[in-house]
Amino acid sequence: MSKSLYPAHLVSQWRAPDGTLVAIRPIRPEDAEIERAFVAALSPEARYMRFMMALKELRPQMLERFTHIDYEREMALIAVVKRHERELQIGVARYVMQADNESCEFAIVVAADWQGLGLGRHFMLLLIDLARERGLRIMTGQILAANKRMLALARVLGFSIEDAPDDFAMKNVRLEIR
Ligand SMILES: CC(C)(COP(=O)(O)OP(=O)(O)OC[C@H]1O[C@@H](n2cnc3c(N)ncnc32)[C@H](O)[C@@H]1OP(=O)(O)O)[C@@H](O)C(=O)NCCC(=O)NCCS
Repeated sequence: MSKSLYPAHLVSQWRAPDGTLVAIRPIRPEDAEIERAFVAALSPEARYMRFMMALKELRPQMLERFTHIDYEREMALIAVVKRHERELQIGVARYVMQADNESCEFAIVVAADWQGLGLGRHFMLLLIDLARERGLRIMTGQILAANKRMLALARVLGFSIEDAPDDFAMKNVRLEIR
């Protein structure tokens, strides 16, 4: 059971440049299998960029944690397409509220076949809007310094980018949500 009511009003659609309709919805406990398969199918590099560690599969506790969320304190949007009558997850973007109750940290990953089409940008704009509606004022993220694409995306979205003080391989990004 999730800890708060499913926000069904946040279900939406996004049209890819080739016309494919992509469903976007807050993650639910029932999405555990497509989330597991999505992470397992990512390249090792993409998994490392997202989780900052070598990881082949989500461990059961991580899967539970990622799919049973408290929508009051966090949000995870998944992007899903229909393939052979089944759902295929092609991306996920989430934020988690911090203890100060006014800032949140984001994380995002888009499947390789779907990168460079605008989904990452669309996800981030949705996430920023939701954080604003939730009353949050700051969104932060940690990005590997080598992750040029995510850094470029953060920059166009208005995030400030700084070297992480304790780790030269990492950048801290921060957006004041207005
Ligand atoms: C980073 C990531 C989420 C971006 O998703 P995406 O769907 O490819 O993003 P978009 O298509 O919206 O592109 C966003 C920006 O990335 C850059 N970009 C996109 N395609 C690119 C390409 N082929 N080459 C270089 N830069 C590119 C551009 O700056 C683009 O902005 P623009 O559209 O204004 O030019 C995706 O690459 C990913 O999942 N990477 C692995 C996981 C990861 O790094 N997560 C971030 C950790 S928090």
